Amino acid sequence: MSAPKNGHESFKNLDTAAVQAGRPPVTPDGPINPPIVLSSTMHAGGPYGYMRDWNATLDSLEQAIGALEGGRCTVFSSGMAAANAIFDLFPQGKPVVASQYSYTGVAMRLKELHDLGRIELRLVDVTDDVAVKAAIAGDGNPASWVWIETPTNPMMEICDIEATATVARHYGAYLAVDNTFMTPIRQRPLELGAHLVMHSATKGLAGHSDLLMGALVTADEELAQKIIGRRVLLGAVPSAFDSYLALRGIRTLAIRVDRAESNAQFIAEKLAGHSKVRAVHYPGLGGHKNADIAKRQSDGPGFMLAFEVDGDAEAAELVCQSVELITYATSLGGVETLMERRRRWPKENSAVPENLIRVSVGIENANDIWADLDQALNATGEIANQTQPKMGY
Ligand SMILES: Cc1ncc(COP(=O)(O)O)c(C=O)c1O
Repeated sequence: MSAPKNGHESFKNLDTAAVQAGRPPVTPDGPINPPIVLSSTMHAGGPYGYMRDWNATLDSLEQAIGALEGGRCTVFSSGMAAANAIFDLFPQGKPVVASQYSYTGVAMRLKELHDLGRIELRLVDVTDDVAVKAAIAGDGNPASWVWIETPTNPMMEICDIEATATVARHYGAYLAVDNTFMTPIRQRPLELGAHLVMHSATKGLAGHSDLLMGALVTADEELAQKIIGRRVLLGAVPSAFDSYLALRGIRTLAIRVDRAESNAQFIAEKLAGHSKVRAVHYPGLGGHKNADIAKRQSDGPGFMLAFEVDGDAEAAELVCQSVELITYATSLGGVETLMERRRRWPKENSAVPENLIRVSVGIENANDIWADLDQALNATGEIANQTQPKMGY
């Protein structure tokens, strides 16, 4: 677990970087934490001047994420804002390759861009490297960008980052990897040849389900300049207060991931042996397709898993409504265990099974999490009518 070298600051080990990166310079009686600089404008005479470009608190957070991922980081007001900053850079009308399963918001936005004629979207099964290569090569019309998540949300499929980067580079395409599920503590796509890493820092990086934040990291200086240009012109800037909170969350990232991941492994194994469970999707289980690639490119299987209840949508809904310790809610990467039936969202990909429940395993006691899930799987009764959510998260 050594820290990448081309961040702003370099550290030998990532767990140390998480604790130490982005601190203010040492001065007698100076603060050890970055101050929350509540200033949208700066005194003239420096290179920046205005907060859409730079603010000291945002900069501290960017130093820390940059040190962890190994590149220059720019933070945004949400993961979607970060993704859209890149989508704005897609060349007009050119092909973009993306996973057939992606986070719903990203999938919806890419489809919108396709329908508007901004891009030609090519969706592909990212577990199939022959199909990925064909989609990037495109019969004489190669892709300009490739956008992947690995593991994919919510199916937990694994894409080979290094192989995809090699093909993308061969055809002159940029490879972007949404690293939200793994965090840099477990997976560093830039080291594997990707041009760009994207985060919903709302999730594991910040880690406490109390803010929205996005991040883009690249070691390509020209791309980094284009990205900061997108934040300046599109204006999706996070607040100094949220940036401070996100950095505070990062200080415990390594131990949170260690604990949540060992809990996830325990829960996945228990689920795999449960009579009310049809399938478990977790790269830490032996039977997972591409578990060997996951092992090669990641330092662990992570804290996210999904499982299919042995029953229909209503059976899965009953499990979600029956948990008492675990929270039935969307989102992921917080200290608390969250789970949801993904198809409750009307805009979720219809290929995702109706009985699939995605779990973001938290850092509670593993036996307590399992006891709650076990009683929910065995629950009987009627499901309560809930208002259907409108949007696609
Ligand atoms: C994998 C992934 N990428 C991107 C996003 C979007 O991030 P945000 O909600 O911070 O805009 C999410 C949100 O759930 C996500 O799960």
